[in-house]
Amino acid sequence: LDVSRHMYSIEFIKKYIDAMAMLKMNKFHWHLTDDQGWRIEIKKYPKLNEISSFREETLVGHYNDQPHQFDGKIYGGFYSQDQIIDLIAYAKERMITDIPEIEMPGHSQAVIAAYPEMGCTGESVEVATKWGVFEEIYCVTEETFEFLENVLDEVMKLFPSKYIHIGGDEAPKIRWKNSQVCQALIKAKGLANEQELQSYFIKRIETYLNSKGREIIGWDEILEGGLAPNATVMSWRGTKGAIEAAKSKHDVVMTPTSHCYFDYYQSENEDEPLAIGGFLPLDKVYHFNPVPDNLTKEESKYILGAQGNLWTEYMPSENQVEYMAFPRMLALSEVVWSGTESRDYIDFVKRLEYFHERLDNLNINYANHLYDLNGKMISE
Ligand code: ACM
Repeated sequence: LDVSRHMYSIEFIKKYIDAMAMLKMNKFHWHLTDDQGWRIEIKKYPKLNEISSFREETLVGHYNDQPHQFDGKIYGGFYSQDQIIDLIAYAKERMITDIPEIEMPGHSQAVIAAYPEMGCTGESVEVATKWGVFEEIYCVTEETFEFLENVLDEVMKLFPSKYIHIGGDEAPKIRWKNSQVCQALIKAKGLANEQELQSYFIKRIETYLNSKGREIIGWDEILEGGLAPNATVMSWRGTKGAIEAAKSKHDVVMTPTSHCYFDYYQSENEDEPLAIGGFLPLDKVYHFNPVPDNLTKEESKYILGAQGNLWTEYMPSENQVEYMAFPRMLALSEVVWSGTESRDYIDFVKRLEYFHERLDNLNINYANHLYDLNGKMISE
């Protein structure tokens, strides 16, 4: 659950965790930082919460609608350390481990807005007010590592989970290409290019976290330039990353856009609420095979499970998060708790009718496209 693009009350997140527990989901991946807002209280760096946690305004409508328009309203906030401790305990009582994600080296513009010295140009930038991939990423300096280690120290004090997600996705290299410091480091370390510099970055962070008894998870871009020795890979750009990681004996979590991006449209109805794009109907989730075909039995053991992603650019309300999560989360739960041979969509749909009643009773909003008809009127 991405709480950077939009954030939700702790009360709502508890309701969401209750629903996860009901469906026997056992890991809550909490995407706490991104370009549009930093959502975790960090005591050592107060500007993360005074500046990085708030954006001036937010894009209105879809990113593809030009010209861009904004709502003119400050948006933001963050979860206090006390709230986070409380939520982790609440999840634990329900057998759910809360795994934090602290993005690096990309998706860091909100941090650079507060601490320009963490970027390569030293120039001030704003907390992002629209969606997308931004060029402002952490510069590869000792100052950056010291900052991130201090942040991660506070994160580890709060989160007892074995895994810490360090992001690693979508980090454009233009700032590093133009940075004398980064270019000098590439030379000094004998690295081939900026991809290998990213690998150096992630490995440094991995070494630090491993020294504290933790392990990293990163998006599949962490394969580029060489995978950190003990990393778990979260495969999102299809299954290529998963296959490469499993073949090199690394654990994998499956979350390919094709089957696991619950921010995609689930219906082609014209009155469907605005979403980022894509098309991921319920039956497609249900037919997901989380173990890629080209893995041997031995390699398949590295597939730990699968995850549904709620990226929340187009989910300004708690109601909309539920609408996008349900009932697709139910389908994904069955995917990971049953073998492909035992899955029967018609049977699932019959059971889903009863499950809708349960969701009604729990006051959970959901999309109901079970009876969508594709028809044509023909007049003769
Ligand atoms: C991602 O969707 N950028 C992991």
